[in-house]
Amino acid sequence: MSSIPSNLPLRNDLIGEEPYGAPQLDVPVCLNVNENPYAPDQAVCEAIAKRVLDIAPTLNRYPDREHIELRQAFSDYLERESGVRLDVDELWGANGSNEIMLQLFQAFGGPGRVALGADPTYSMYPEYARDTFTGWQLAHRNADFTLNVDALIEQIKAVKPSMVLLTSPNNPTGTPLPMADIERVLAVCESAEVTGAAEGVHPVVVIDEAYVEFRNPGTPSAVTLIKDHPNLAVSRTMSKAFAFAGARVGYLAASKGIIDCVRIVRMPYHLSAVTQAAALAAFEHTDEQLSRVEHLRQTREATAAWLKTQTYQGKPLAVAQSESNFLLFGGSFDKREAIFDELLKRGVLIRVVGPDGWLRVCMGTDEEMERFRTALTEVLRIVEAE
Ligand SMILES: Cc1ncc(COP(=O)(O)O)c(C=O)c1O
Repeated sequence: MSSIPSNLPLRNDLIGEEPYGAPQLDVPVCLNVNENPYAPDQAVCEAIAKRVLDIAPTLNRYPDREHIELRQAFSDYLERESGVRLDVDELWGANGSNEIMLQLFQAFGGPGRVALGADPTYSMYPEYARDTFTGWQLAHRNADFTLNVDALIEQIKAVKPSMVLLTSPNNPTGTPLPMADIERVLAVCESAEVTGAAEGVHPVVVIDEAYVEFRNPGTPSAVTLIKDHPNLAVSRTMSKAFAFAGARVGYLAASKGIIDCVRIVRMPYHLSAVTQAAALAAFEHTDEQLSRVEHLRQTREATAAWLKTQTYQGKPLAVAQSESNFLLFGGSFDKREAIFDELLKRGVLIRVVGPDGWLRVCMGTDEEMERFRTALTEVLRIVEAE
């Protein structure tokens, strides 16, 4: 809990607010923030150290604020990962995709504007809206957490948002978003009106692909739609599958027009020379960085199958379909906080997030998942007997 003196002129709408963030606890098994649990190989660590050493003598100077070399590396990576060749001016980097999102809200949100998302979804979105004085509205997903495209389209017409924000795969549910659904939303937004903007202005569709590398092989990414849709912005990150959360690198793929809007609101030199050097080194080792993704997909499938064999109060656990590195499970937990607490007592940290009755667990190493299974089996019996 923060203790902010009442004589500080904190913005009225921020009074009583707490900083966002999952608990950072020193426990043996951390399965709560959807990281890749496998540490970088020694060769990657050495490449990072070398790149940083190489630029260290230039640290008296500001970094390349256009981070051209890194944007070229994003382009090369996306070509390899999604089969699309984007130009450097269709890419943009920032300190995590959190910063990318904030920049999008700064550029396209603001007083009198509304952003529209689809509930349940990532809990930071309302905070970007709050911080940029943008209205925040939600369309509701179907019971299985798939997007209700008809309902969303109705709301686009009613609310006239400047941004439609969809997460693929979604967090905290893991639900994939079919390309056909994205294309329907894009088509509607190409002619939809925007509250608080001039006539002829249409909404930007933001697809947050933070977890997209965990999708089932063969599934296209929304970046394949960029060349045909100048109103599409796709946010990506190195924090999840790419196993680089500590470096804080996210990136945006979009038309040059959208990137140029974001460039207006960015801080000068927002991406440090050290960050740029570390990210370039990691991209040189893309194979190693991604080498555990297939195993994590298999861990997800095996864990989902195992969870479905477990029961709570005589009923099998529900597991939401996931193409991510986490699973939302339970569905009928009447005491999810108690389950969370008991797991924590056993050194296993998961997340209380999503609709009532559900919990989220991120895929860890084989040893961590073993500990999770052992602890959960025990905890479910204890909590249901209470
Ligand atoms: C859906 C989604 N988008 C964006 C982010 C932000 O990630 P980062 O800022 O590390 O790129 C997260 C992090 O958990 C997320 O779940």
